Amino acid sequence: MSSWTRATVIRVQRAAHGVLDIELVADKASPLPEAAAGAHLDVRLPNGLIRQYSIHRYNAAVNSYSIGVGLSEPSRGGSAFIHERLQAGDVVELGAARNNFPIKPGASTYLFVAGGIGITPILSMVRWCDANNKPWRLLYCVRSRARAAYIEHLPRSGIVTLHVDDEQAGHPNLHDFIRDAGADDQLYCCGPAPLMDAVRATAEHYLPAQHVHFELFSVAHLCAKPEGEEASFIIELARSGRELTVPGTSSVLDVLEQAGVMVPFSCREGLCRTCECSVLDGEVDHRDYVLGDAERDANNVMLVCVSRAKSKKLTLDL
Ligand code: FES
Repeated sequence: MSSWTRATVIRVQRAAHGVLDIELVADKASPLPEAAAGAHLDVRLPNGLIRQYSIHRYNAAVNSYSIGVGLSEPSRGGSAFIHERLQAGDVVELGAARNNFPIKPGASTYLFVAGGIGITPILSMVRWCDANNKPWRLLYCVRSRARAAYIEHLPRSGIVTLHVDDEQAGHPNLHDFIRDAGADDQLYCCGPAPLMDAVRATAEHYLPAQHVHFELFSVAHLCAKPEGEEASFIIELARSGRELTVPGTSSVLDVLEQAGVMVPFSCREGLCRTCECSVLDGEVDHRDYVLGDAERDANNVMLVCVSRAKSKKLTLDL
């Protein structure tokens, strides 16, 4: 694993129905790096679970990150622990902040679509726009007004459209929101999978694919496992010449661990890039959610927690 930094919970505050705002302060001897807009970090909770959360504020003055945590339904244990047990004074551990959802400078206007707790990375991005005098528009979709976390924290410099499911009939009108996008505008979306699918399908009418960006929190609800049995394949570790078989029931990461080859990991879901390995030979079957099309086509890296092989053998730079 990457190195961990101890941090103390100094605030647990209700941000909306089902959403807690948490501020985590590290010791002055361990200065936290500035977190760019869109960054997230691993949090190791007192119960040992590791979860990823977007950082919506970095406060250098007190050496803290603030995160928003929605209560998942159903929870896999992390959000339930935070909502039911975590309190000020508790100690957690923080992994290094990473950014798979970076904001690209240079757009004329930034468009954001947030669904529910997906507002947390978007909040850091609209603050970036505000600080950099960039025009922005936000479509914020929530089930009820009581669930609209951080609505009062949004800067006044942009245009915010709130879509409240239980007040407005039908789905938000994504065509209306995206239709006027300029050729060099950028669109960022974070929220539930159906919303992201709808945004993807709508945006392709108005913006090039490389101007449309998505952030996934968890793939648990998306993970359509390939039908039938997975094929086994061989991985060759170039530095030692060892060959290991990856059976259909295991991941490359599992096999490496069983063989005593330690590769850093975090999410084990293809979401965070922590387990990225260089590929020297063979064809990768990419199963992650974060590599871009160009990176997939280059076929020289893979995320070993989820990706497999199309060829009979992969040679890894391990
Ligand atoms: S451990 Fe997160 S992508 Fe592999």
